[in-house]
Amino acid sequence: MTTAQPGSQWKGIVLSGGKGTRLYPVTRVCSKQLLPVYDKPMVYYPISTLMWGGIRDIMIISTSEDMPHFKELLKDGSQLGIRFSYAIQPEPKGIAQAFLVGEEFIGSSSACLILGDNLFHGDASFLRRALQEESGGTIFGYAVSNPSRYGVVEFDKSGKAVSIEEKPKRPKSHFAVPGLYCYDNRVIERAKALKPSERDELEITDLNKAYLKSGELRVEVLGRGMAWLDTGTPESLLEAGSFVGTIERRQGIKIGCPEEAAFRMGYIDARQLMRLAGEAGNSSYGQYLLSIAKEETGGLIEDRG
Ligand code: TTP
Repeated sequence: MTTAQPGSQWKGIVLSGGKGTRLYPVTRVCSKQLLPVYDKPMVYYPISTLMWGGIRDIMIISTSEDMPHFKELLKDGSQLGIRFSYAIQPEPKGIAQAFLVGEEFIGSSSACLILGDNLFHGDASFLRRALQEESGGTIFGYAVSNPSRYGVVEFDKSGKAVSIEEKPKRPKSHFAVPGLYCYDNRVIERAKALKPSERDELEITDLNKAYLKSGELRVEVLGRGMAWLDTGTPESLLEAGSFVGTIERRQGIKIGCPEEAAFRMGYIDARQLMRLAGEAGNSSYGQYLLSIAKEETGGLIEDRG
C-alpha cells in the first residue's frame, strides 16, 4: 500500500534530543527518549504515530552522544518497510531548529514534526486528515488542566484560532498545543527567519505565530477520545507508563508498536512480522507480534518465518 496514502508525500521528523534536565539524574547518561514507557522505548510512540499517519520517510534528530543508540535500536527502517535517517542537533537550540537541521532531508516535501517524548493514543485519522493538506500548517489543540506548561491557543466564538502564547502565566484558554506539527515546504524559510527567543531558542510557537499571522494555520481540536501525554517529568513518565499498561492489559493490544503499524499499514507482510517477533525474543512484545501475524495468516506461516 503506498503512494496513494496521504502521508507518503510527507517527510517525518522525530525530535529526540534535548537535555532532559527535569528527569535528572536518570537522563544524565542516557537519552530521555530511550527510557521505557511501560514495555517499550519512549521513541517508539512518536514513530508509530507518524507511521499510522502514513509517513514512511522519517528522520530522527538527537544529540551526538545518544545517536549511536538510536541507530542501533532503529536501524535503517527497512525491517519495517520504511526509511530512517539520522541527524545531530549539536545543541538544543529550540524545537523549530529541527527544520534547519532537517533542511536537506525535507527537500521539496512537506514536513511533519513530532516530539520524541510525546505520546498519542487514538484513531489516527486526525493526522491523516492533516497530511492531506497541501499548503499552510496544521497544529492541534488539546484540553488540559495545566495549560501554562505549554503553548496555548485561543479561539474566537466561531472556533477560529486567534492567538498562540508560549507558556503564558495567565492562559487565555485551556487548549495546549501538542508536540505534533504539520507544515508545507515553506516551513524551512520561515524557520530561517525566526529570531532566537529570550531563552536563546528557535521557538515553535513563533513559527506557528508566523503561519497564524499570514492566515495559513489550521488548528484542529483533538476530541475526548484522543489521549495525549508527555513524559518529561518523573510524574508524567510514571503516569504515561501506567496509562499504557492499563490499556494494554485491559484490551490485549499494544500502543506505540511500530512493527504492528508497519504490518497493518501494509509496509511489511506477515512473514517479516514473524521475523521481527523472533528478534524480540521471549518477551511479551515478541509474543504480541507473533499473535498478530498468526491471527492474520490463520497460523499458516511458521513461527520464525
Ligand atoms: P523539552 O521537554 O522542552 O526539553 P528537554 O527534553 O531537554 O527536557 P528538560 O526541559 O527537562 O531539560 O523538549 C521537548 C522535546 O523536544 C523532547 O523530546 C526533546 C526535544 N528537543 C530537542 O530535541 N531539541 C531542542 O532543542 C528542544 C528544545 C527540545
